[in-house]
Amino acid sequence: MKKIVIINGANLNLLGKREPDVYGTKSFEDYFEELKTMFSEVELDYFQSNSEGQIIDKIQEVGFDCDGIVINAGAYTHTSVAIADAIKSVSAPTVEVHISNVHKREKFRHHSYLSSVCKGVVLGFGLQSYELAVRGLV
Ligand code: DQA
Repeated sequence: MKKIVIINGANLNLLGKREPDVYGTKSFEDYFEELKTMFSEVELDYFQSNSEGQIIDKIQEVGFDCDGIVINAGAYTHTSVAIADAIKSVSAPTVEVHISNVHKREKFRHHSYLSSVCKGVVLGFGLQSYELAVRGLV
């Protein structure tokens, strides 16, 4: 059974409550249940932290023995060389995900430190971006 780990970063614990016009009204916990049903043949794990260091620790912990990582680092996408280095350091292929189409938004969201070290990027499809990213890894 393939194992894929989904890592959500800053403020993504507030999905469903946070800016619903941008991020929708569903919590990630509810969406994660749907994902597990969609991918019953895959072992899916989920981790969220608002702390950059904890995200790096998680990438290091799982990145040598899972089959793929799906990461939405939230705003750390646009600031974190350290998360990019962690992704580069591990063997698991990583897909960068965004719920919103960051290229339609403020200019500071247009640059990602993560894209160049990821296998691929999925953005702008709402929560479905995560499904598409998992499909790309299995
Ligand atoms: C986001 C986009 C980021 O710019 C933002 O800081 C987030 C969420 C997205 O999923 O659309 O927190 O990663």
